[in-house]
Amino acid sequence: MEEKWNNSGVRLAREIGKDLPELKGIATGVEGLDELFFTTIFKGGKVKVKPLGGYPEGGVIQITGVPDTGKSLMAEQFLITQARFGNYVCLVTVEQPAAFYVASLKQRAAAMSVKWERIDDKIVIVDAASDQDLRDDIPRLMHVLDGGLEKYPAKVLVIDSVTGLYEAKEMAARNVVRQFYGFSKKRRLTSLFISQKRSGHQELSSEAAGGYGVGHIVDATIVLAKKEIMSRYDQSLYAMPMGELIRLFRIDGCRLCGHDTKTRFMEITDSGIVKIGEPVSSKLNR
Ligand SMILES: Nc1ncnc2c1ncn2[C@@H]1O[C@H](COP(=O)(O)OP(=O)(O)OP(=O)(O)O)[C@@H](O)[C@H]1O
Ligand SMILES: [Mg+2]
Repeated sequence: MEEKWNNSGVRLAREIGKDLPELKGIATGVEGLDELFFTTIFKGGKVKVKPLGGYPEGGVIQITGVPDTGKSLMAEQFLITQARFGNYVCLVTVEQPAAFYVASLKQRAAAMSVKWERIDDKIVIVDAASDQDLRDDIPRLMHVLDGGLEKYPAKVLVIDSVTGLYEAKEMAARNVVRQFYGFSKKRRLTSLFISQKRSGHQELSSEAAGGYGVGHIVDATIVLAKKEIMSRYDQSLYAMPMGELIRLFRIDGCRLCGHDTKTRFMEITDSGIVKIGEPVSSKLNR
């Protein structure tokens, strides 16, 4: 066998088991969402559901949806909530230049009654939106990000959006996402990868999300959608009046823990705060 190759990729489960990630939650900052990821415990011969109280820690969660469905707002709520706990949080902005993203974060903090001065030294921003060279050069971007995290050891990472890192290079989608996935796992970050869904067809499917086959790489996918009630069918399906705009939310999958599988109503308040509501089905059953 070639000398240059070694067997470092082979280890016993017992050895690997000495350093396992613990299954626990990290607060999302989104009302109604913390209870939707759960684990099961066995008590008195019965299986009981125990909510994690947030996103599964150490997970890479893709949030996808067509434009204006609340993806960035959810990311902001997560960043602000974690920064308020005193953690460094890191944002790679790919679409909006840093100043615009920060202005939006500042508004969101006000809406969440969080003092901006308490958190603005906890939010680490990598601006790949203003620098095309950085955006196009993934190894360089990872190097910059690595340096940033060395200086400010963040617990959470948001990339808004990963789709923006492989625009017009659809074939690169899986490769780029896999690299950032590996990066996040290695540093045991909890990450939100925001991805743009190309097609409004079948709003709540994760198909056409983030590029071909990206859903297989990430640990969990959340799909956001909006829909205008335009037919009698929709009217009775969602029990809403004609012309109304409804927002929908669904956890499409999560390989780390149990999760709610229902399609739920979602609200974006006037101050731009996302809240997850009741399942569509429970409204219909009333
Ligand atoms: N005060 C507010 N600030 C921002 N957005 C608000 C506010 N109030 C309501 N909204 C709604 O939230 C939407 C913005 O959501 P968001 O920016 O999170 O979209 P997105 O899913 O990230 O879209 P994109 O893919 O274009 O980035 C707006 O289009 C608007 O409908
Ligand atoms: Mg956005």
